[in-house]
Amino acid sequence: MLTIALSKGKMLEPTLEVFRRAGYHPNGLSTESRRLVFSCPDIGMTFLIVRPTDVPTYVEYGAADVGICGKDVLLEQDSDVYEPLDLGFGACRIAVAALRGQASRDRLSSKIRVATKYPKVTERYFNQRGVPVEIIKLYGSIELAPIVGLADRIVDLVETGNTLQAHDLVEVELIARSSARLIVNRASLKLQHAAVTDLIKKLRAVGTAETRSGEGGTRVSTPKTGRKANRTRR
Ligand code: PRP
Repeated sequence: MLTIALSKGKMLEPTLEVFRRAGYHPNGLSTESRRLVFSCPDIGMTFLIVRPTDVPTYVEYGAADVGICGKDVLLEQDSDVYEPLDLGFGACRIAVAALRGQASRDRLSSKIRVATKYPKVTERYFNQRGVPVEIIKLYGSIELAPIVGLADRIVDLVETGNTLQAHDLVEVELIARSSARLIVNRASLKLQHAAVTDLIKKLRAVGTAETRSGEGGTRVSTPKTGRKANRTRR
């Protein structure tokens, strides 16, 4: 049996669709259900329904062999997992945005305030550019922050751009592109090799994107293990 952590919310239905197209029919698993564990012995899988930001944790610690979550989550979590496959759906980007007319604000020498759900991604990005920032961690409704004067900028996910537009915000810089990724626990890749590689093969055949060359089997290391980073391209 493979244990698979799926992201609840927006990504759940497209994830289930990819599994169905690959020939795996998780009977009884629906986006409507309140259940968090679905055992599907007929396809040799148990599914865990978890918060998207928790998927890498379940996989890194081996509570799940495999997980599906956005690249945005992986960039922020920095977990020690394999990332063999870009499933293609859920395409969006992490971007810096500002109120219309405020786009040149970071040319000022003073620290700018940036509100975000992605404090690590944000810190890395502005550090690399030598721009001093004060990061304000929020958990949602990020677009509100510049409107009420809580922040000069936001770093957030942009998919259609409708939410930015609705709040008179404009995209200033692109930080990274994101889409749904399959991640694998390092031990499971060895101990459950046949089942994991079969799953990867079948999902790859029906997915809408391939992991680009150079990203295959990439390990994203955690600072706590002290392993050397071999980061994916942004
Ligand atoms: C995400 C993101 C943006 C919005 C972008 O929010 O944080 O707010 O979607 O999508 P768009 O470009 O298509 O408008 P989500 O719905 O996850 O809610 P949250 O802000 O409360 O996290």
